[in-house]
Amino acid sequence: MPISPGEVSYITGAASGIGRALATSLVNQGGLVIIADLNGEAGSKFAAELNDKAGSVVAISVKTNTTIWEDQLAGFQEAVRTFKRIDYVFANAGIAERPWLPPFDPETAASRPLLKPDLATADINLTGQLYTAALALQTFERQEIGPSGFRGKLILTASVFGYFPSRAMPLYAASKAGIINFMRSTAQYYAGKNITINSVAPNLVDTPIAPEVLFIPFRERKLLSDIQLVLDQFEKLLGESTLNGQALSVKADNAWVHPADTHMLEENLPACDLISVEIFKLFGDKTA
Ligand SMILES: NC(=O)c1ccc[n+]([C@@H]2O[C@H](COP(=O)([O-])OP(=O)(O)OC[C@H]3O[C@@H](n4cnc5c(N)ncnc54)[C@H](O)[C@@H]3O)[C@@H](O)[C@H]2O)c1
Repeated sequence: MPISPGEVSYITGAASGIGRALATSLVNQGGLVIIADLNGEAGSKFAAELNDKAGSVVAISVKTNTTIWEDQLAGFQEAVRTFKRIDYVFANAGIAERPWLPPFDPETAASRPLLKPDLATADINLTGQLYTAALALQTFERQEIGPSGFRGKLILTASVFGYFPSRAMPLYAASKAGIINFMRSTAQYYAGKNITINSVAPNLVDTPIAPEVLFIPFRERKLLSDIQLVLDQFEKLLGESTLNGQALSVKADNAWVHPADTHMLEENLPACDLISVEIFKLFGDKTA
């Protein structure tokens, strides 16, 4: 659904790739954007380009490391100071897999100390997005219903590896699966509160997330996802759209809604429902 002119979008990781394409598309529709990126230089340059083209301030850049709460808090505060409200938050910043452990090798294993894993992939792709979500939901909660009929909409960029395991990318898959089930869980909680939470989950898209050489065999086999089709999925979740708790997925030129796992759900539902009731009682939450 189209956005209303003047609606404000906060996008992490918007200096490059999917976030950058999304910011461009939103500004072209009359929106205002906050570019929250670790690469402050690229973010500022991009914001200046958008402003020059529009002839007014349609974009601001905030240098943000999404894994640092204080950075993200400052970014949200700056966004609200400048544009008064935030209609859409895109928790999008992410990185490709970084090896968390050395390659399996029983020959050399005993000569290495037991190493602390590198959890950077999970820190950025899971914790960073959760910080963005926490700020988005609290910002939406304290603002009135906006021009499209909502307090706000949160969209988290996941991946098809949120559903499918990957032997080469265990932390990426774990983070994206975490995002998908976080999205479905919070979508249940915020349903009926004029807030929607959804995910867009592409397969491989040609962006600077990985070295160019990685994309060559995918390009040859036509396995890269069409970035316009990815943008179309984001757009389905905006404006007056009432979609909530959905994972909109893309592979090459195919788009689909990925269903939630319902295997054995009926058998588990009584206990799952009761645990929610009891936990809300324990936490003193009367809204649920
Ligand atoms: N490109 C793909 O194949 C693909 C497929 C599925 C999902 N995704 C997801 O899409 C999202 C965007 O990826 P992309 O392909 O556009 O990548 P990209 O590398 O082009 O852009 C990512 C941006 O995020 C920023 N960033 C990285 N770490 C950050 C941090 N800690 N704080 C703030 N900004 C940070 C980078 O500076 C960069 O500008 C990611 O969540 C990624 O996992 C990408």
